[in-house]
Amino acid sequence: MSLKQDINLEKLPKHIAIIMDGNGRWAQERGKDRLFGHLHGVESVRDIVEGSAELGVKYLTLYAFSTENWDRPQQEVVGLMELLVETIKKEVPTLNKNNIKLNVIGDIHLLPANAQKELDEAIFQTSKNEGLNLIMALSYSSRWEIVNATKSIAQDVLEGKLKVQEINQEIFNSYLSTKLFPDPELLIRTSGEYRISNFLLYQIAYAELYFTEVLWPDFRKHNLHEAILNYQQRERRFGKTGDQIKNVQIS
Ligand code: IPE
Ligand code: IPE
Ligand code: MG
Repeated sequence: MSLKQDINLEKLPKHIAIIMDGNGRWAQERGKDRLFGHLHGVESVRDIVEGSAELGVKYLTLYAFSTENWDRPQQEVVGLMELLVETIKKEVPTLNKNNIKLNVIGDIHLLPANAQKELDEAIFQTSKNEGLNLIMALSYSSRWEIVNATKSIAQDVLEGKLKVQEINQEIFNSYLSTKLFPDPELLIRTSGEYRISNFLLYQIAYAELYFTEVLWPDFRKHNLHEAILNYQQRERRFGKTGDQIKNVQIS
């Protein structure tokens, strides 16, 4: 039985963000090296990107590597970077076939030169696509992003390009690396961890949070469908009362 047909396509989240967690534990459960888990995690990425595009989701942000992940053992970091380069190279034709545009957020300059080069190339080659926007968060953390935005705002004020009185939420948003994307309505975290781990702290102010025990390498389209269905059963109130929301829906 497929859950997909139960999804209301008119109430689809425009933007889904995912903290892809649990690769290491998945591998350890099988007596394997952590990198084996990351390798299998790529299969899930493929399936979820395809599943999101099939449904008509417009933006999918995947947290693939955090600022804090640089502190992992060197061997794991190197392995992850190699996997990243290899995967991007391989996936460009599929992205183009499915009309998917690749975007990246994060402190990309910290990535190895060949990873930066492959990313630039893939971003360029998919830049004309108008279907799903796939946003990879790499060497990303929200505090890094917010501090960076603050520095740029201060610099612009100093140079007279911006007045302090002009700063509002819209202006602030335009200094974030996500400026081109709407805020996520749904945030999913796999692997039974109930935390945000420095991901999109500003942007998820009103996101619906969905946590699942499923480890990332086991996460497939039907798990995504389950999360979306769960999201569609919720009442999003944005500070208002339930009655106010229902009245708006009727009128
Ligand atoms: C998520 O899986 C992938 C990255 C953070 C790169 P983990 O590697 O964090 O897996 P666990 O949490 O140790 O199981
Ligand atoms: C969050 O996972 C980062 C990514 C999924 C890329 P972590 O495994 O690094 O998070 P913590 O350390 O458990 O909070
Ligand atoms: Mg983890």
